[in-house]
Amino acid sequence: MSNRNDLGGTSRPYIVCHMLTAVDGKITGPFMKTPEARIINEEYERTNETYHPQAWMCGRVTMDDYFTLGHKPELEENVSVYPRTDYVANPNAEMYIVSVDPSGRLGWTQNYVDYLSRPRAHIIEVLTGKVSDAYIAYLRKYGISYIFAGEDSLNCALAAEKLKSLFGIKVLMLSGGGFLNWSFLQEGLIDELSIVMAPLTDGETNTVTLFEKADYLPPKAPVAFSLESVEPVNGDGVWLRYTVKK
Ligand SMILES: NC(=O)c1ccc[n+]([C@@H]2O[C@H](COP(=O)([O-])OP(=O)(O)OC[C@H]3O[C@@H](n4cnc5c(N)ncnc54)[C@H](OP(=O)(O)O)[C@@H]3O)[C@@H](O)[C@H]2O)c1
Repeated sequence: MSNRNDLGGTSRPYIVCHMLTAVDGKITGPFMKTPEARIINEEYERTNETYHPQAWMCGRVTMDDYFTLGHKPELEENVSVYPRTDYVANPNAEMYIVSVDPSGRLGWTQNYVDYLSRPRAHIIEVLTGKVSDAYIAYLRKYGISYIFAGEDSLNCALAAEKLKSLFGIKVLMLSGGGFLNWSFLQEGLIDELSIVMAPLTDGETNTVTLFEKADYLPPKAPVAFSLESVEPVNGDGVWLRYTVKK
């Protein structure tokens, strides 16, 4: 098993895919709104803290669901054109939230997120060359950090390396959704899979699961995991920890 306390030799953070699931692998749906899921969510937060992360990362859809809530960015015309280079607005934040938003769609209105009992997190947007000059100016206006990872398509490995070299992030919690999780898994970038499983299901057929392959990604062979530990948690949940079989 990789040792997350011995990260000196690697050029990217130790990456833990940490997720709350139903018994059927779903990560969203009516089950999440039950009192039982609330208890498991507390366990999800407790187990998250045990990794002592400096950042967590989510995909554009998750960010919109939890934080920007459908708000569109107010893009101005005739903006200053900033160079297409990485921008570090805050190199010393206690916590970072990394937002994978390749085309620049999220309507942030401040440069931080307050979430549950986590420390205030400074926002880092992960962009590609598809983003507009107006969106870059918009991020600058709010003092939001951003990095470029790929021209037409997202380069997850490059994003991970920049998070370590520019922000000093050593432990990164990859926290969904399913499409982002699969992107990292298929590039061999997940060190550990940490699942807090809730004793629930809702039978929905149109909700996403832990790993979902986007149509624009090539097919890959199935991925196998090695079991590291199993622990019961409050609320009849189970904390499962796996490493990826090499
Ligand atoms: N239970 C849990 O622990 C947990 C945790 C997190 C999220 N969730 C749930 O998961 C759901 C959302 O999951 P999701 O899988 O639909 O969305 P997601 O992974 O949050 O976001 C997907 C979006 O991220 C961008 N993206 C991700 N991978 C990419 C790649 N390889 N290349 C280019 N762009 C990429 C794309 O944005 P564009 O479309 O802008 O190109 C893509 O549409 C929400 O309902 C949320 O509540 C649950």
